[in-house]
Amino acid sequence: MAASRTFISSNLFIFFLVMATTNGQAPAPAPSGPTNITAVLEKAGQFTMFIRLLKSTQAADQINTQINSSSSQGLTVFAPTDNAFSSLKSGTLNSLSDQQKVQLVQFHVLPTLLTMPQFQTVSNPLRTQAGDGQNGKFPLNITSSGNQVNITTGVVSATVANSVYSDKQLAVYQVDQVLLPLAMFGSSSAPAPAPEKGGSVTTGSASGSDGGGDSTDSSDAERFGFGLIATVAAIAASSSLWI
Ligand SMILES: *[C@@H]1O[C@H](CO)[C@@H](O)[C@H](O)[C@H]1NC(C)=O
Ligand SMILES: *[C@@H]1O[C@H](CO)[C@@H](O)[C@H](O)[C@H]1NC(C)=O
Ligand SMILES: *[C@@H]1O[C@H](CO)[C@@H](O)[C@H](O)[C@H]1NC(C)=O
Ligand SMILES: *[C@@H]1O[C@H](CO)[C@@H](O)[C@H](O)[C@H]1NC(C)=O
Repeated sequence: MAASRTFISSNLFIFFLVMATTNGQAPAPAPSGPTNITAVLEKAGQFTMFIRLLKSTQAADQINTQINSSSSQGLTVFAPTDNAFSSLKSGTLNSLSDQQKVQLVQFHVLPTLLTMPQFQTVSNPLRTQAGDGQNGKFPLNITSSGNQVNITTGVVSATVANSVYSDKQLAVYQVDQVLLPLAMFGSSSAPAPAPEKGGSVTTGSASGSDGGGDSTDSSDAERFGFGLIATVAAIAASSSLWI
């Protein structure tokens, strides 16, 4: 009995050793690092769909890289709520190509930081990230009176509900509708041609390594899972041998 207890506790020891080493290999999360658009929106809640689009189009990485770059003039993000997405005509997103999804997301991002008071004085039309390389192709207009701020695209008119987040590099506002660009959803327009890949060229490799981070995380998780199963199996096998 004493022998089996020793054997099991040494298995437990190995188990904790496996846990400690696999955890040690995982990259440490940096909660207090540079501003992270995904984390900002997750914290705010009710932006599940927009977060999914930001991730699937890699726009989240681009935005994070851009606001972390010292040459950035800041960014303004208009984040549509989940309600905004569910009020879209059904199939609207599914009808878009991957390239158009990128443009749709980039249409919600302005390449400058706009504070709430600055909405009163902007001059229309405003350039969006989707207009990069094709200046003026994806503009939107902001109109405001008093505290009310509206955004018009020529297809939809949305209202800015409130400020979700702001710092020196990033301002995030909640909007009640998905901003549909005229160039993509105007009645007579053909699907927009593929733009240059968005984001800044010099920081491209940084965003690429961010993307790699996700797969590292999951393979670490898998390795840990495998280690756990193997250890449990070893404990079970040794128990039946010794008891
Ligand atoms: C940003 O936050 C999300 C969710 O909290 C996280 O999965 C991602 O790894 C973070 N990205 C960076 C670059 O820290
Ligand atoms: C942010 O910028 C700093 C300094 O330029 C750099 O060390 C860091 O890796 C960058 N972080 C991200 C998430 O791009
Ligand atoms: C904003 O839109 C609402 C309804 O869509 C409208 O009643 C209001 O007059 C608009 N305000 C401005 C400043 O355009
Ligand atoms: C945006 O504003 C510009 C300048 O005032 C105007 O020419 C254009 O028609 C407006 N577009 C929309 C969609 O309101």
